[in-house]
Amino acid sequence: MSESSPLLEARNLYKTYRMGTVDVPVLRGSSIHMEPGEWVAILGASGSGKSTLLHLLGGLDTPDSGEIRFKGELISSHVRGARNRYRNRDVGFVFQFYHLLPELNVLENTLLPGLVGAGIRGDRKRARELLEAFGLDHRLTHRPRELSGGERQRVAIARALLNGPEILLADEPTGNLDAETGQEILDLLKREHEAGLGIMMVTHDRSIAALADRTVVLQQGQVVPDESPVSH
Ligand SMILES: Nc1ncnc2c1ncn2[C@@H]1O[C@H](COP(=O)(O)OP(=O)(O)OP(=O)(O)O)[C@@H](O)[C@H]1O
Ligand SMILES: [Mg+2]
Repeated sequence: MSESSPLLEARNLYKTYRMGTVDVPVLRGSSIHMEPGEWVAILGASGSGKSTLLHLLGGLDTPDSGEIRFKGELISSHVRGARNRYRNRDVGFVFQFYHLLPELNVLENTLLPGLVGAGIRGDRKRARELLEAFGLDHRLTHRPRELSGGERQRVAIARALLNGPEILLADEPTGNLDAETGQEILDLLKREHEAGLGIMMVTHDRSIAALADRTVVLQQGQVVPDESPVSH
């Protein structure tokens, strides 16, 4: 990677959803970037396209046009090789509603990326270490339904970090939690960030966005710097 290129860079993204015969343009020339180890918060009104943008940045979906590059490599193309490698190895994704598999226990849920990714024997050890670090070592064989929301989200973060990604994409990771539990999750993210993890986090909440190194706002399909405080 050259010194000047960002870790992750999206340029001029367009995304329109087609609902029957109606086009819903969501992203209209969105550009965003993050440096290695940076924490970027994305604010924006409900429906402004924050989740859509994060899904594109995570390679979960592809833009209609525009480019996304990780360390200079194009991951937004429909050619799956580079995108799959990026998804399995370089980026982790955390959702507001955890998205754990109900029939798998905590350890198995955490190990899931190992099944599609590198699939190394060390995965099990790494999963246990992560879960222990997140205070879940006594919950390894529990199913998600037996866990609190905060515990579920900690499992989801452990799963996202299993393959040692450089970037964590988090879509309202505390949006479904009470304030105190949410704070525990934010403390955990802060520790990972201090250990070098780059974080791109969507939130509705300015006080949460304030934890980030930099905040941007998604409005009218474009990403703009958060310069003036927005009144809601
Ligand atoms: N799969 C889809 N099919 C059709 N329309 C969609 C789809 N996903 C999102 N949309 C529409 O795109 C727009 C942006 O949705 P998105 O979920 O990205 O917004 P958001 O900023 O994350 O909102 P929220 O803060 O409520 O989570 C909305 O109008 C939504 O209805
Ligand atoms: Mg959303």
